[in-house]
Amino acid sequence: MKILVTGGAGYIGSHTCVELLNAGYEVVIVDNLYNASKKAVDRIKEITGKNLTFYEEDILNAPKMNEIFAKEKVDCVIHFAGLKAVGESVSKPLEYYQNNISGTLVLCDAMRKNGCKNIIFSSSATVYGEPAFVPITEECPKGTPTNPYGWTKHMIEQILTDFHTADNDWNVILLRYFNPIGAHKSGLIGEDPKGIPNNLLPYVAQVAIGKLQCLGVFGDDYDTPDGTGVRDYIHVVDLATGHVKAIDKIKENPGVKIYNLGTGNGYSVLDVVKAFEKACGHAIPYEIKERRPGDIATCYSDASLAKKELGWEAQYGIDEMCADSWRWQTMNPDGYND
Ligand code: NAD
Ligand code: UD1
Repeated sequence: MKILVTGGAGYIGSHTCVELLNAGYEVVIVDNLYNASKKAVDRIKEITGKNLTFYEEDILNAPKMNEIFAKEKVDCVIHFAGLKAVGESVSKPLEYYQNNISGTLVLCDAMRKNGCKNIIFSSSATVYGEPAFVPITEECPKGTPTNPYGWTKHMIEQILTDFHTADNDWNVILLRYFNPIGAHKSGLIGEDPKGIPNNLLPYVAQVAIGKLQCLGVFGDDYDTPDGTGVRDYIHVVDLATGHVKAIDKIKENPGVKIYNLGTGNGYSVLDVVKAFEKACGHAIPYEIKERRPGDIATCYSDASLAKKELGWEAQYGIDEMCADSWRWQTMNPDGYND
């Protein structure tokens, strides 16, 4: 079976390509390298000892996308490509809607024209907004996004669902990720944020290695055990194997399916700091700051549906997530460095 992976050179995409190749799938990556490095593609090959096909291409390029689908005879698409910085999306809504929404439409049109109607989409727990209840099941109603990035996830879920309503040949699996962190055990691939990281783990890792001075903890007055925000961190390799399981599911022509990919455990910011201190062997300086606008107190999954229907559950705990993230950071202090 041949899987086309948009955004396959990126953080989650590269880890997923490793697991796909290990599971025996043929892999075609389409990535414009806007937020990724060609080195990640080489390292996927190095880790797996297998080959793949790489197109440095923008999914918005309709003629090229048609050409690629006509040539490659793809069975299923895993769609990671998109812009993902929440704060930036507020100041650049047009870029976010164009890249994420128009990109998805161009992609799906090329799929349809070439008879491929199986898609697995990278959604996010952000679609739950301020969750109506925790742990969050897939039944939890979608909330109102507070930023254009969140709206793109919300809208693309609807768009792909509408494709299936109009044409039952479409199979759509919406995977709602909780907070992916960590890196491949080899230390060869990992998250390589450009500039100052927005997300907790890459920030902590850069403080740990001395590139940044001090972590700002955004609020210690939430209604949580230690007052800091609680999230469901999931090892990126577990997330990647979730996609391999989703391909098994899509082979059953399931129509539209939605799965949370999380561990079901919530950790506070200070829990993460402690786990990272254990991994790196020294203290991580931090100071309490104001709450970050748009943040919620608590967000963690009920991941039992993925276990029941995909036969998937997360294997790694917070200590392994931090240890693997630290290994990647120390082996690649400047990321892919290109
Ligand atoms: P990433 O930025 O590392 O990966 C996205 C990849 O898409 C990059 O390699 C980028 O170069 C590529 N890309 C962007 N626009 C493109 C275009 N028009 N054409 C071709 N390639 C394009 O991000 P990631 O963390 O790996 O996230 C992957 C997906 O998962 C995204 O859709 C993201 O919104 C979603 N997601 C991520 C998280 C997270 O915390 N990382 C959480 C929930 C959902
Ligand atoms: C953020 C996005 C979310 C997106 C997700 C992808 C926001 C508001 N939300 O989620 O839409 O789907 O990333 O991974 O950006 N924290 C600090 N100091 C820091 C950074 C973070 O204390 O320097 C805290 C946050 O307040 C939060 C926790 O750490 O409590 C996790 O933050 P982050 O890694 O940014 O993820 P989310 O906010 O959950």
